Amino acid sequence: MSQGLEDMAAALVASGKGILAADETVPTLTKRFDALGIKSTEQSRRAYREMLFTPPGAAEFISGVIMHDETIRQKSAGGTPLVKVLLSQGIAPGIKVDAGVKPLAGAPGESITEGLDGLRDRLAAYHDMGARFAKWRAVIRIDNALPSSACVSANAHALARYAALCQEQHLVPIVEPEVLMDGSHGIERCEKVTGTVLHDVFRALFEQRVALESMLLKPNMVIAGKDCPRGASVDQVATATLRCLRRHVPAAVPGIVFLSGGQDDVAATAHLNAINNLPGPKPWKISFSYGRALQDLALEAWHGRDENLKGGQQALYHRARCNGAASLGRYSEEMETASAGKCALADHHELHEG
Ligand code: 13P
Repeated sequence: MSQGLEDMAAALVASGKGILAADETVPTLTKRFDALGIKSTEQSRRAYREMLFTPPGAAEFISGVIMHDETIRQKSAGGTPLVKVLLSQGIAPGIKVDAGVKPLAGAPGESITEGLDGLRDRLAAYHDMGARFAKWRAVIRIDNALPSSACVSANAHALARYAALCQEQHLVPIVEPEVLMDGSHGIERCEKVTGTVLHDVFRALFEQRVALESMLLKPNMVIAGKDCPRGASVDQVATATLRCLRRHVPAAVPGIVFLSGGQDDVAATAHLNAINNLPGPKPWKISFSYGRALQDLALEAWHGRDENLKGGQQALYHRARCNGAASLGRYSEEMETASAGKCALADHHELHEG
């Protein structure tokens, strides 16, 4: 069974592939729909997810999709369970299993991710529905005196308890400790906090006897705060991120799949590419598990209208293709010219339709 989990973890970071995070909760997706004037209903959310899951050819760059509880139970317009829609393209179904962030008692301004109660049974049920990997996101905020060690250790402990339960229930855990890019701190502060968080997370994973070979890490990149007057260059982000990961992530972990965290979509691709192009040892695969950086353009192009299905899919295909290349260090700015993504997808449409 552990071999099965190791194989699944390795498959999720197969060469040139990464993960599509499409597990926004109903309130979060509703906020994104509202911003574009799209009505959020169970049906419109289903149509959106089906659009994201089916761009012809995207499976070349997408190994797995993280779904929300609502989505894993839904069917395509044609009546096929969305889990099967993914499996038929060789894409692994994944599921978000945390119950969201709540204020951490005694730690003003900080949060703890909840959801451990009853998790064993929920994981077993998701496995029966076809899920093969899971996600739990912890959130760490940087401010003058934050994060507190209480917040970091409580979240590390919860992540490790979740990961151990996932492996017991035959799901590959994605361990996501996100240090937010909100704030005016510089890149140095982000590196220090991210290092401390990763150190605590791997200590907790060790204590909870999590098999590192059968998990993936989903960290933030080391980046300056959004409101920092001194932005960091692509090279600085890549260098600080890889240095931090080398110091704190054991070589037994098969893959590191970054979150995008509010970075502009092209920046998220350029950073991933630069990290993969740095010299020196990289004992893990380094790829993506982006939400907004893969979806934003696709959502805008689709805009809730059936007639825009192809446009939305072209946008997703294009970003998936660019990020797939970045996971190999083979991305270039020329790939961003609209025609590159569109042509490839048009070819696929012709193949499928003709
Ligand atoms: P973003 O890439 O939009 O940060 O989302 C990734 C994710 O899964 C957050 O939990």
